Order: sequence, then C-alpha cells, then structure tokens
Amino acid sequence: MAERAGVVEARSVPQLRGFASTDKSNDWRRGRTGSAAVHEPELRYTTGDLLRLKPVSRIAPPADYAIRRATAGDLDALVALEQAAFTTDHLSRRQYTKHLRSDSARVFVAMDEGGLLGKALVFFHKGSDIARLYSIAVADRARGRGIAKALLAKVEQAARSHGCRRMRLEVSQSNPSAIALYERLGYHRFAEHREYYENGEHAWRYEKRLID
Ligand SMILES: CC(C)(COP(=O)(O)OP(=O)(O)OC[C@H]1O[C@@H](n2cnc3c(N)ncnc32)[C@H](O)[C@@H]1OP(=O)(O)O)[C@@H](O)C(=O)NCCC(=O)NCCS
Repeated sequence: MAERAGVVEARSVPQLRGFASTDKSNDWRRGRTGSAAVHEPELRYTTGDLLRLKPVSRIAPPADYAIRRATAGDLDALVALEQAAFTTDHLSRRQYTKHLRSDSARVFVAMDEGGLLGKALVFFHKGSDIARLYSIAVADRARGRGIAKALLAKVEQAARSHGCRRMRLEVSQSNPSAIALYERLGYHRFAEHREYYENGEHAWRYEKRLID
C-alpha cells in the first residue's frame, strides 16, 4: 500500500499505544467518564503523523475518581492520609479545620468509591499574585496513576481564578518522587531553605509561572 501523502490532522489520528495525542478533546483527566479508550490503529502512519504525537511513559487508565473541594466530612480521612504520607511536619486536624473555612486556602481531595485517594492544599495571600502549594499527598494504593498530576492541575486552576500568576512550593531535598513530579509539571528550582523541616531536612524552593 502506498504511504498516505499530505498532512493528517492530529485530531483525526486515533490514539496509539504508548503515545498520547496532544488533542485535548481526548484528555482522560476531564472527568470520571473521560474517554481513555485506546483504539487499535486502523490507518497507516507517516513519520510526520508520529512526530505530532507525544510519547508518555504509561497508558492513562480511565479516570475512576473525582476531584472536589474538601468538606468537614473529609477531616478524618485527611488527617489519616497526612499521618500515612509524611514522616514530619504533619498538619493537624485543627489546622485542616481552619483551612477548610478560610478564604485564603483551598483544600482539594481526589475520591473514589473506596474513599480518599489524595489531597492538595494551596494558600493565597491578599495583595500577592503568588499562590503557595503547601501540601500534596496521594495514598499508597493510588500512586502512579496521575492523581498528583490531576490535583496539581486543579490547584493551579484555582490559583489562576484567584488572579495568581505564579505558584511556589517547598520540597524536601530528600524527596525524589515529589521533585520529579514538580519538574515534570514545569516547576523550576530557584532557591533553597536550609533546615526547613522539623526533622532538619533542607528544602528546595520551586516556582511555576501560571499566566504569561
Ligand atoms: C509525590 C506524590 C504526591 C506523587 O503522587 P502520584 O499520584 O503517584 O504521582 P503521579 O502519578 O501524578 O505522577 C506524576 C509525575 O510525577 C513523577 N513521579 C511521581 N512519582 C514518582 C516516583 N516515585 N518516581 C519518579 N517519578 C515520579 C513522574 O514524572 C510522573 O509523571 P509520569 O508518570 O508521566 O512519568 C506521592 O508519591 C506522595 O504522596 N508521596 C508522599 C507525600 C509527598 O512526598 N508529598 C510531596 C510533598 S512536597
């Protein structure tokens, strides 16, 4: 069969195994029922077609969870995840209760039928266009499914809605998974905090521009 000539619109190219289309209309993170169907290719692809597809390290499964703002009913689960996910600097129930009520904070949770999968806490400061991601964690059973990535996207969207142009965060220098997460999502290291955590660990400071 002769190779198909001409440009094939990325939109019309079915998803290939191991590749993610840059076409956002097929973005599985858009909701619980977002389609992640991986079709067997029916067309032959030219090199040009393949260059318009972005490689990914794994195939995104269907989103079987939802992200929403946390409520007082989530407090027990939030505190339990806090204890399980961190070895130091735990947020207390009292702090969560305060943040849930505060105008200058947002707590988001990722939930499925089994309960809490992950959470993220972001702060806004009056008169500042810099939001601060204070905490993010995903339950052991749910790691590696893109939940932190989806929570961060939600937090960044909330920050933009607050008029914030940048997001900043601190991360322990001995936390390679979190460092990889932030760098993967476009955060860049700009400073260091020595002995930032209660256990004496040093932190890197990261920033991402949210609006050009
Ligand atoms: C860090 C953490 C939030 C990641 O959650 P997660 O839902 O597993 O992360 P995701 O599946 O969304 O991963 C997104 C990206 O982060 C990076 N990443 C996440 N976990 C990683 C790991 N263990 N090793 C290397 N890279 C990792 C990858 O680049 C990944 O993108 P990819 O899958 O396309 O390669 C989770 O491991 C966690 O809760 N850790 C304990 C709490 C913590 O350290 N929080 C951060 C405090 S600053």
